[in-house]
Amino acid sequence: PAPCLSLLNGVQIPQLGLGTWLMNDAECAVTVAAALQMGYRHIDTAENYENERGVGEGIRNSGVTRREVFVTTKFNRKWHSVDGARQACEASLKRLGLDYIDLLLVHWPNPDQDRYLEAFQGLVKLLEAGVVRAIGTSNFKPAHLQRLFDLGLVPHLNQIQLDPYHLRDDLVALHREHGIVTGAWRPLGYGNAMLADPAITAIAERHGRTSAQIVLRWLVQQGFVATPKSSNPTRMAQNLAIFDFALSDDEMAALGRLDRPDPEMFDADRFGH
Ligand code: A2P
Repeated sequence: PAPCLSLLNGVQIPQLGLGTWLMNDAECAVTVAAALQMGYRHIDTAENYENERGVGEGIRNSGVTRREVFVTTKFNRKWHSVDGARQACEASLKRLGLDYIDLLLVHWPNPDQDRYLEAFQGLVKLLEAGVVRAIGTSNFKPAHLQRLFDLGLVPHLNQIQLDPYHLRDDLVALHREHGIVTGAWRPLGYGNAMLADPAITAIAERHGRTSAQIVLRWLVQQGFVATPKSSNPTRMAQNLAIFDFALSDDEMAALGRLDRPDPEMFDADRFGH
């Protein structure tokens, strides 16, 4: 299993989890059970992925005890109010078939409707009620986080698009300053050629590992949480097998020089469900 990081409230989060975006209920029921049986202890889903039922089924089918599994989910913009967060949580719990959530996130800030502060205040209430163990945000940019800080609120984790082509230095620095754990979504750069980048394949060859393992190792070695999606058992196992080797300082630095502009990147000021 992957090692854990401590969130600001002491809750332990496994550094490597299974992402489930684009997997349907049936696929999740099979894949989540297989992942837990091979040692995964963290599953990342969302209301928007429309697969929470399958995730819950997979957990129950795995034979792994509920308290050994860390479940992250996220809710959509229509729930951005204090009571909305409560309703969103209740609905997720029902779909998952669980009685608590480990980490619940505001999925996108949706600044056009400007109700993400209320949504987060709703999360604070759920944390106090003990129905979620930790709370956070996803796709928040520095300006969005700053408005939470101004209210004295700090998410335990902010999950953002992060990989060697999307370094997000400004956010990572802000997270570190406030003790927020950085979560990386789309860590393998889904849909682009990043895994074939010669700078990455050269390091992979040196270690006798795959490019995916190098990228995931680079993320966890910086203290991030990564949730790569795979429904292929070989690649699922490969993605988890990154805790028995280390990248050198030079290799870490080389991977930190591949950032590039991405005009297709989802801009949280304009995008979000
Ligand atoms: P598959 O499910 O067939 O393994 P991300 O989490 O960054 O969005 O990446 C998910 C994509 O990357 C999926 O298309 C997944 O396909 C693929 N993928 C996952 N793990 C690996 C790996 N170790 N090597 C290559 N591709 C991978």
